[in-house]
Amino acid sequence: MRRFHSFYLLVFLIGLCLFLISCGEKTTPEEETDQMAKKNEMKEEPKMDIQKQTFGQMPDRQQVDLYVLTNGKGLSAKIMTYGATLVSLGVPDRNGDIADITLGCDSLEGYMAASPYFGSTVGRYANRIAKGKFTLEGVEYTLATNNGENHLHGGIKGFDKVLWQAEPFREEKMVGVKFVYFSKDGEEGYPGNLACTVTYMMTENDELKIIYEAETDKATPVNLTHHSYFNLAGQGEGNILSHELLLDADKYTPVDAGLIPTGEIRDVADSPMDFTTPHTIGERIDQVEGGYDHNFVLRSGGGALVLAARVYEPKTGRIMEIHTTEPGIQFYSGNFLDGTITGKAGKVYNQHYGFCLEPQHFPDSPNKPDFPSTILEPGAKYLSRTVFKFSIN
Ligand code: GLA
Repeated sequence: MRRFHSFYLLVFLIGLCLFLISCGEKTTPEEETDQMAKKNEMKEEPKMDIQKQTFGQMPDRQQVDLYVLTNGKGLSAKIMTYGATLVSLGVPDRNGDIADITLGCDSLEGYMAASPYFGSTVGRYANRIAKGKFTLEGVEYTLATNNGENHLHGGIKGFDKVLWQAEPFREEKMVGVKFVYFSKDGEEGYPGNLACTVTYMMTENDELKIIYEAETDKATPVNLTHHSYFNLAGQGEGNILSHELLLDADKYTPVDAGLIPTGEIRDVADSPMDFTTPHTIGERIDQVEGGYDHNFVLRSGGGALVLAARVYEPKTGRIMEIHTTEPGIQFYSGNFLDGTITGKAGKVYNQHYGFCLEPQHFPDSPNKPDFPSTILEPGAKYLSRTVFKFSIN
């Protein structure tokens, strides 16, 4: 009899254990939600970050570093210390697919050999100075004439071709890199020792901000800008003629055959230069000799940070807005791209495969007293801000 009771006791205990185990497995809907939430927390969410990599080595064996900025929402930027150059800019489209929207090269050697200022920081004086000459405080200065009879983009070895020192930083809602360069008195023919910084910042609001600062010990022209070639459909993905452009500019500065402003400030109204309402870049480009390569006079007059340009690419839905404190913006439709450059990912860059929008003071201002002054005096601070903001439609 005792054995009989032990058997049923054992069966009961096994049943009890199975019951308790099954209870432990059952979860209430609330518990399931909590478990899902915990699983999600464990999933690696992309986050705002900055990483340093090596990009290449200069002929004198100095290392060129690359800084990779990500904002955790799909925007990414890679910036190298050679020329404080934006090497790539990853931007999501309306489907969330990310493309690099800036033209460039796969290697440092590519940039050093053939880059027409792809993504570069340009200076000491961006754009042209007629015949490479200007007079300041009674002294005539002679610069390199590296663009026909004129001086372009700071000369033979402008700021795009020097090695900047980099200081990465993080803040709560942004990551960035501060690039520093000391341009010596007489460099490329310019007067004065000029201490420059260019700070790139990426924000959680899908902005790439650039702040330019400089100080000098002798009066000198200064006009710094950013020189990316953009294609919002993706770099190398055809021409940019179907991009829609808006420019907040009622006037522009007409130029001569050497692309030097004549000094006139002309209305854009009733002309192919009028982008005060959106037009595709290609709609009237044939009416502009050589394509667009002009300084537009912004309504703001410079000083405040205001919207200067908006570009929309209809196939992908990408929108790029440019805000700047500069009084002008150079719109260049990639006229000199001619298929001789093979860029990133083996893409061949044909004519109009990228456009530039270079916030700036006007070209040849040191020789145009009626244009806003670009002369930085000792004791004054040069400050210029530009923001590239990305969105989709
Ligand atoms: C600027 C100039 C253009 C061209 C490019 C570089 O955009 O306005 O004329 O020189 O730089 O190729």
